[in-house]
Amino acid sequence: MDIAVRHFEKKPERCAYALSQIEKLLNEETDLTAGLANASAVLKLLLPDLNWVGFYMWRGDVLVLGSFQGKPAVSRIAPGAGVCGTAVVTGEAQLVPDVHKHCNHIACDLASASELVLPIRVNGELFALLDMDSPVTNHFDEEDLTGLTPVADAIGRWISQIGE
Ligand code: SME
Repeated sequence: MDIAVRHFEKKPERCAYALSQIEKLLNEETDLTAGLANASAVLKLLLPDLNWVGFYMWRGDVLVLGSFQGKPAVSRIAPGAGVCGTAVVTGEAQLVPDVHKHCNHIACDLASASELVLPIRVNGELFALLDMDSPVTNHFDEEDLTGLTPVADAIGRWISQIGE
């Protein structure tokens, strides 16, 4: 699979390019695992300074690790536990500029310093989380939230289209 690695100074353009590449791949795929595996690979390839990017799937009472790029991670997260579990309970994206100052954080990779978690909804219901970790403190900001929410939304629409 040949994805052109293009470098953008500004986050909005970088996020828009990642979105376009993910949409292109998803439009050619109907399998959930294959699509999410490629989506995590594209994000890892195109967004700088990420040490972990992947999905936690909502199984109704617990989050279960899905496709990802990075070090092995905790495979199950209960609602309310860590940044991901907080996203489940609140139903909202979680932007954590410094995980070391965040009391409710599960450390999977000790290199992680900041984290962004985006809910993926399918037909209005929580289906999964997109979790991104950076080794850089304050790496994620409002531009990432604004630029990457459309990625989570596009993945949610694709999941609905493939009938999952
Ligand atoms: N840090 C997350 C756990 C998952 S790892 O980042 C991959 C959390 O606090 O929920």
